[in-house]
Amino acid sequence: MEPPLSDCLREVHRLLDGSELPPRPLDRALRNLSGALAREVRLMEKLQNALAHINEGRFLDEVMNGLFNEFKGTIPFERIGLALLEDGDVVRARWAKSDLPEVKLLVGFAASMAGSSLKGVLRANRPRVLNDLTQYLKEHPDSISTKLVVEEGVRSSLTCPLIAEGKRVGFLFFSSKETGAYENEHVETYSRIAAHVSVLVEKSLWTNRLAAQKEEIEKKNAELSRLNDLKNSFLGIAAHDIRSPVGITQMVLDSIIKGGDKLDAAAQRSLLVESAALCRHALALLNDLLDVAKIESGKIELKPISFDLASLLRETAERHGRLAAVKGTRVVAEPPPPGDMRADPLRVRQILDNLVSNAVKFSPPESTVQIRARREAAGWRVEVEDQGPGLSEEDRKRLFQDFARLSAQPTGGEKSTGLGLAITRRMVEAHGGKIGANCPPEKGTTFYFYLPD
Ligand SMILES: Nc1ncnc2c1ncn2[C@@H]1O[C@H](COP(=O)(O)OP(=O)(O)O)[C@@H](O)[C@H]1O
Ligand SMILES: [Mg+2]
Repeated sequence: MEPPLSDCLREVHRLLDGSELPPRPLDRALRNLSGALAREVRLMEKLQNALAHINEGRFLDEVMNGLFNEFKGTIPFERIGLALLEDGDVVRARWAKSDLPEVKLLVGFAASMAGSSLKGVLRANRPRVLNDLTQYLKEHPDSISTKLVVEEGVRSSLTCPLIAEGKRVGFLFFSSKETGAYENEHVETYSRIAAHVSVLVEKSLWTNRLAAQKEEIEKKNAELSRLNDLKNSFLGIAAHDIRSPVGITQMVLDSIIKGGDKLDAAAQRSLLVESAALCRHALALLNDLLDVAKIESGKIELKPISFDLASLLRETAERHGRLAAVKGTRVVAEPPPPGDMRADPLRVRQILDNLVSNAVKFSPPESTVQIRARREAAGWRVEVEDQGPGLSEEDRKRLFQDFARLSAQPTGGEKSTGLGLAITRRMVEAHGGKIGANCPPEKGTTFYFYLPD
């Protein structure tokens, strides 16, 4: 078996020191060689020790911070950067650290590998030492990345390709402000270190990915549990608010079928009219519930087109105006500025119907509801203003929540499910828009929504 390197070096020294002849060129060459080898061995040992510590890091940031701290004083640098390869031959700066505040870190900066000298580094699978970047830039004036680092004052760089189990991972960059900081004779050592670091980086990337997946799963679980709660509250509402009208209607029908002859036609008719109203309300509630369920399960499909907002506002005002006339309430639409809205017209109509019917429902008789619209940065803002009771602080907190029946009560015997605004909010948000309400004191409420083009 061959003796270990350290024993060989010691033996060479002993022979050279013990020789009585004047030193020959071979002696000098041997002495130099053994000195260089000894330095290399020391560097390798230090870096191996450092790697053992770095190995304890789990996440990418831990591993890289460990590298930065452990390699300090062993390899010269003021900055270490890590760039990872992404699909499509792109390399992106993923991590960087420096002791010097003036050094920029450029994390997130991405560049194409096409035409970059990094391609050659990867192909050679060997660290590249550039010990005079000013000179390198003169010879390669097109290298944007070199231009950037030279401007920051970097003079030498050591670029290590990271390849883990045959898979190209990215690059590790050491940068120094000194010219000639990296010794070419250490390239072998750097190369071995880069092979270790590649595995550590790849491992930590998996740890990061797993953690991200775990977070994603937890988020999905929370969302599922929220949907489950919603479903339960729907069942509760359905059990109560839908069962009772159906139960009453059944009783009415039974009593007419069985004892119809005991009731005169007028009494029968009034019972039927009442049941019809109850059924209408149950159906409206059921439709609302189905709407919420559809939106929540992501099944709502928007069909955005360009349409004339002015006609929609006019038509809405007329339709609601006819119903509101029973209470002596007027619904007025101000003509909006010319231009089309781009959205799903059926949904916008539903949004407007909810806001206008609320404005009529919760305002005192004989009041006026105004609908207006104006262009805003890349979209439309539509407002529905009423002269109703406004909203309390408490109301505002729950305004767009499911089943929120707040302080205002219907003023003309209308029904309330407390789902209209919750659906409206979802419709607006599905369009990427915003909804809200303002109520200056004693002035009623103005609901508004903004839809982007
Ligand atoms: N324009 C308004 N002015 C005052 N309060 C309102 C107005 N619109 C809605 N509200 C309050 O918000 C609650 C929720 O409205 P909504 O979700 O449309 O349900 P619903 O109309 O079925 O009651 C209403 O019950 C009411 O108390
Ligand atoms: Mg409503």
